[in-house]
Amino acid sequence: MWADSDDYERALERAREHTRKWLEALPERIVRPSATADEVKQRFGGPLPETGLDAAAVVDFLAENAEPGLMAMQSGRFFGWVIGGTVPAAMAADWLVSAWDQNSGLCFASPSTAGIEEAAGEWLLELLNLPPGSDVGFATGASMANFTALAAARWRQLANAGWDVNADGLQGAPKVRVLAGAERHDSLDMALRFLGLGAPELVPADGQGRIDPTALRSTLESGPQDAPAIVCLQAGNLHSGAFDPFPAAISAARDYGAWVHVDGAFGLWAAAVPGLRHLTEGVELADSWGTDAHKTLNVPYDAGIVAVRDAAALRSGIGMHAVYLMQDDHGPADPMEKVPELSRRARGVPVWAALRSLGSDGVRQLVAGRADCAAELGHRLAGVPGVEGLNDVVFTQLSLAFGSDERTRAVTDYVMAATRTLPARARAVGAPRAARPVSVRRGCSQPTTSGRGRRRARVFPRTTAHFPLRGRGSTAGPLRCPSRPRH
Ligand SMILES: Cc1ncc(COP(=O)(O)O)c(C=O)c1O
Repeated sequence: MWADSDDYERALERAREHTRKWLEALPERIVRPSATADEVKQRFGGPLPETGLDAAAVVDFLAENAEPGLMAMQSGRFFGWVIGGTVPAAMAADWLVSAWDQNSGLCFASPSTAGIEEAAGEWLLELLNLPPGSDVGFATGASMANFTALAAARWRQLANAGWDVNADGLQGAPKVRVLAGAERHDSLDMALRFLGLGAPELVPADGQGRIDPTALRSTLESGPQDAPAIVCLQAGNLHSGAFDPFPAAISAARDYGAWVHVDGAFGLWAAAVPGLRHLTEGVELADSWGTDAHKTLNVPYDAGIVAVRDAAALRSGIGMHAVYLMQDDHGPADPMEKVPELSRRARGVPVWAALRSLGSDGVRQLVAGRADCAAELGHRLAGVPGVEGLNDVVFTQLSLAFGSDERTRAVTDYVMAATRTLPARARAVGAPRAARPVSVRRGCSQPTTSGRGRRRARVFPRTTAHFPLRGRGSTAGPLRCPSRPRH
C-alpha cells in the first residue's frame, strides 16, 4: 500500500511544528518529567482501536501526550549521567535517514549510506587519532560498540590459540582471560556476559578510577602465561573523567600477548583537542576502541562507534554472509560485517552531518568548551561552603557532595526544578542552544543511598549530585566559560 503523499506532507508538517515547539521550550522548561511511565501508558495504551487514525492526528496525539513524560535532556540545566544534546545538522540528517529508509547493511543495496558511513569513519579515525585503515562500524551505543570490539578480540585471541570460535563455540575452548580495571563501566561486564566470557578479573584502580598498570602486570604474570587474554582499559571514567595510563598499561598487556580494548564512550573525544590530548596519550596503541557520538558529539540517539585495527578479526568475529546477500569484492566493507545487525538504520549519516557542520575546529571547540566549563564550575564551587568536589577535574566530569544525603537531594531537587537557562554558556563553547556544554556527572543523576546505584558507586561512594550554577540567595554569578578556551 502506498500512502497518499499528502499524508506524508501533513504528518511531517505537524512533526516539524512539534519539534520546533520542543526545542523552543527547552531553555525554560522544567528539566524533570511531570508524568510517570505508568501515567503515560494509560494515555497510550488500552485495546488497539479497530479503525485507524489520520497520520497527522497520530503525530499530534504523540507529541501532546508524550510531552509531560519527557526529560529535558538537551537542556543546559540537565546534568545527569553522560548525555548529549543534538547539533542541528545531525538532527535534520536523522530525519533524512528515516525518509530514505534504507536498509543499510550492504554497500550493494545502499551505496550512499555505506559510502557516507565510510567517509565519516575516516574522519573519526583522524579526529580521534586512531590508526588509519582501522575498520569503523556504527553500532547503537558505546555498550554495543564495546561488545562488537570484544567479539573481534575473542575471535582473534582464540584463533591465535588454534580455536575456531565460529565453528566450535566456547564449550571446550581455551579459557580467555579478560582483565579490566576495578572502575570499568558496568556495560563492559554486560558485553562480556553476552559474549560468554563471564565477569572480568578486576585490577585495582586508584582513587580517580585509573587502572594501576603495575597491578595489571602482576595480575597478568600471576595467571597462565599462554592463555588468550584481553585487557580492557578506559578513556574517561564516568564519575571522575579520569583516563587510564595507556602507555604503561598497554605495554604490560603486550608483554603477555593480550588484545587491548579501550572503552572511550565519552572520553576518546579528548584526542580531538590538542590541549587535552595528553589524556589519551598512547591510546592509539590499543587494538580496538568503543565510543559514541550521542554523548560528546551531540548526535541524536543512537550513535555508537566501534573501531578495530584488525579488520579481519572484526569481520570474522561479527560479520555474516548469505548467498542471497550480494557483496562487492571491492570498495568499502559492508556495514553488516562491522556491527552486530544485518538490517540496520544508517546511523553513521547523522554522525557525518555533525562532523561536517562543525568541522574539526568546531569539534575541538565543542569538546574543549565542555572541559573548560567543568573546570570553571569546579573552580567556582571550590570556594562555596558546604560543597565538596570529589574528583580531580581533568575532562568533563565533576562529582560533588553537599554534606549529607538529605542536603544533596535537596540541591538536586532545586536544580531539577529551576527554569533559568544559560544560553551564554552554550554559545561560549560553540554549541547550539539546545546542546549541553558541560557534564557534571555521577553514575546516577538521582542521588542514591540504596539499591543498584549504591552498589556501583565505587569511586565516590557517597551521595553526590548536580547543582545549580547560581542558587536563589547565592552570591555567585552565572557561570561563564573562559572567553578564551584554555585548550
Ligand atoms: C565509560 C562508559 N562506557 C560505556 C557507557 C555505555 O554507553 P551507551 O549508553 O552509549 O551504551 C557509558 C555510558 O555512560 C560510559 O560512561
